[in-house]
Amino acid sequence: MIPYSTQTIEQEDLDAVRDVLTSGYLTCGPLIGEFEDNVAAYVGAGFAVGVNSCTSALHLAMIALGVGSGDLVYVSAISFVASSNCALYQGADVEFIDVDKYSGNLDVDYLEKMLIKAKELNRLPKVVVAVHLSGRPVDLERIAKLKAEYGFYLIEDAAHALGAIYHGSRIGSCKYSDITVLSFHPVKIITTAEGGMCLTNDEKLYKTMRKYSSHGIEHDRSCLENKDMPNFYYEMQELGFNYRLSDMQAALGISQLKRIESFLEARRENAKAYEELFKMESDIHTPVADSSDSISSWHLYQIILPDNCRDTIYRTLRERNIGVQIHYLPIYDHPYYQKIGIYEELPGAEYFFAHTLSIPLYPKLKRLDLQLVAASISSLVDKVCHE
Ligand SMILES: Cc1ncc(COP(=O)(O)O)c(C=O)c1O
Repeated sequence: MIPYSTQTIEQEDLDAVRDVLTSGYLTCGPLIGEFEDNVAAYVGAGFAVGVNSCTSALHLAMIALGVGSGDLVYVSAISFVASSNCALYQGADVEFIDVDKYSGNLDVDYLEKMLIKAKELNRLPKVVVAVHLSGRPVDLERIAKLKAEYGFYLIEDAAHALGAIYHGSRIGSCKYSDITVLSFHPVKIITTAEGGMCLTNDEKLYKTMRKYSSHGIEHDRSCLENKDMPNFYYEMQELGFNYRLSDMQAALGISQLKRIESFLEARRENAKAYEELFKMESDIHTPVADSSDSISSWHLYQIILPDNCRDTIYRTLRERNIGVQIHYLPIYDHPYYQKIGIYEELPGAEYFFAHTLSIPLYPKLKRLDLQLVAASISSLVDKVCHE
């Protein structure tokens, strides 16, 4: 099987994890801070909190921004369910933003229309969650203008986008947003098995996310509510969670981050190779190429196929052991969302979902395999879509 994605593990990763196993700490040791510092320095963010998943990072972001019952959160309609579940955890209401039908990234014109209407109804969102789908940055500058005008907080869901660059800044720098979250799941740009991170330039948000990531416990003597207590004393100030990353995971993350440029370069080269192979295929819509303004991390290579043939092509490729995937069903189409009364049918999201196909893309994808994937898709499109 050629998978749609897979991790890249080398000897140095194995050595790094083995060293932790024989050290004093498996968790709560020094490597977590080192990993946080390295990621923050790489993306250019002020503060980082390493956690056990991007889902946890999204939840902490919602808590830190004070999202609660009665608040409204807007989320890109095409994403993994975690992007909006985090708002539901806090008892907030969710509305979905339609997406561009070719890229799946949120449609800023649509967002603007939602905001104009919401202002009239006096029901503006507290937070907007913008997803950099497949690693392609959304138009942060335009969204930031709307943020300034309508006064919402912005979370960048950069689960796919570590290493991407927007207008000269790395995604994660939080230049335009309050908080950015990352995922280190195995198929992502770097992995810690499970894992994620919250990034921010706001110290108050950072401290809240840090505290809630570990049971709401405060150790810093200067921040204790009860003063003049003995040295062993720490106190639980909020009802937090155990969302901590372990030292084993941090060791893997540190080791992986050292090679991130080679991972990104290999992904870019593979994306260019697909672009070249599909350039004569007028029926296949390929992702927008990188430009000086916007460089993708190429987490996914999502093509758009003609009407009514995606499902057959998906099935046939999988029968041939080519591990294509669909990212994603619009979140509002999941039964849970319908059970809680969210019924939407957003045209961009519907189109994207019905036509998109994620085809294999990862650093170690062999060129011959990539050529086989592209040739299989081209011949299937000729056969299936023109029947
Ligand atoms: C866009 C997006 N956000 C959030 C998540 C959740 O990430 P994790 O699996 O690290 O919790 C994912 C996972 O695939 C994702 O794709």
